[in-house]
Amino acid sequence: MTETLDIKITKTNHSRLNETDFNNLPFGKTFSDHMLMADYADGEWKNFEILPYGPIELSPAISSLHYGQAFFEGIKAYKHADGKVTIFRPDKNAVRFNKSAERLCMPELPEEMFIQSIAALVDIDRDWIPGKANHALYIRPFMFATDPYLGVAPSSTYKYMVLIGPTGPYFSKALRVKIETHYTRAAEGGMGYAKAAGNYGSSMLPARKATEEGFDQLIWTDAKEHAFIEEMGAANAMFLLDGTLITAEAKDTILDGVTRDTVIALAKDWGIPVEERMVSVAEIIEGAKNGKLTDAFGAGTAATIAPVGSISYKGEEYFLNDPEKREFSNLVFKTLNAIKYGTEEDTHGWNYIV
Ligand code: COI
Repeated sequence: MTETLDIKITKTNHSRLNETDFNNLPFGKTFSDHMLMADYADGEWKNFEILPYGPIELSPAISSLHYGQAFFEGIKAYKHADGKVTIFRPDKNAVRFNKSAERLCMPELPEEMFIQSIAALVDIDRDWIPGKANHALYIRPFMFATDPYLGVAPSSTYKYMVLIGPTGPYFSKALRVKIETHYTRAAEGGMGYAKAAGNYGSSMLPARKATEEGFDQLIWTDAKEHAFIEEMGAANAMFLLDGTLITAEAKDTILDGVTRDTVIALAKDWGIPVEERMVSVAEIIEGAKNGKLTDAFGAGTAATIAPVGSISYKGEEYFLNDPEKREFSNLVFKTLNAIKYGTEEDTHGWNYIV
């Protein structure tokens, strides 16, 4: 038996639920009535508290603002037709949360504390979960250093927080992507596998340049040669090439994505060969040219399954097959939704019931 986490609860006396337009839910802009906070000090996690969502007061000297000791997770909760509420695979995020913590020299949060704190917050704001197709409650747990100290050293105090909010799909159309051959997201020995805030900060200039060129997303390549595909924007890049599902193996430059892992598990269930390995730009471009690349998509919690419409490389744009006719990614999308929304049996035990 695991102990129940002691959480102080202060409820809002003014819910914003009725003022929220559930027909207009762009990603990451709407937050529910409450949030969760906890403190790390003297070697332990304490002061777990659910309180009304709102600004918090912090010293401007906190080390996370200066040296980037900060990381996050992305998870989703779903409402089933019978009213049941489930969180998708939070145990995987709990493990990755602690991998990020370890890489950034920050304290781990016991898996049970992570899951129970999230479930408690989702439970309090369960009315915020949209009932609409392809909509969910996005859960954003994060941790940051709070020592007011400008020396470059690991903080001795930290905050763990969770925000939640209803969201619609992250992308609304097939993506025009560019293979990036100058900038790098992650290098060997770096922190690409961690969900470090800094990884996302450093992606913004290259992403903006790509947007200015008319692209929706970047495909990141390896730091040494820019010859191997690593990720796609803030999602994992996955391809069906000659009938085999291929994606970069989870190593230190790759985020070990929960959706990535789920897609791999489904492909294996269906007897589709899977290869987690270095994926060369050359083989993907060749596959786009000769038609053997029959599917290409980004896989992520926010992105879900985001189809790639065209891939540009060194000034040449390669158009892929019609995303609506793609057998694999459409089946993955449908099956994943059926499991998440409870219309198909969850044989893998991926749904955590709140
Ligand atoms: C997620 O899929 O949850 C992510 O972390 C992507 C986010 C940065 C938009």
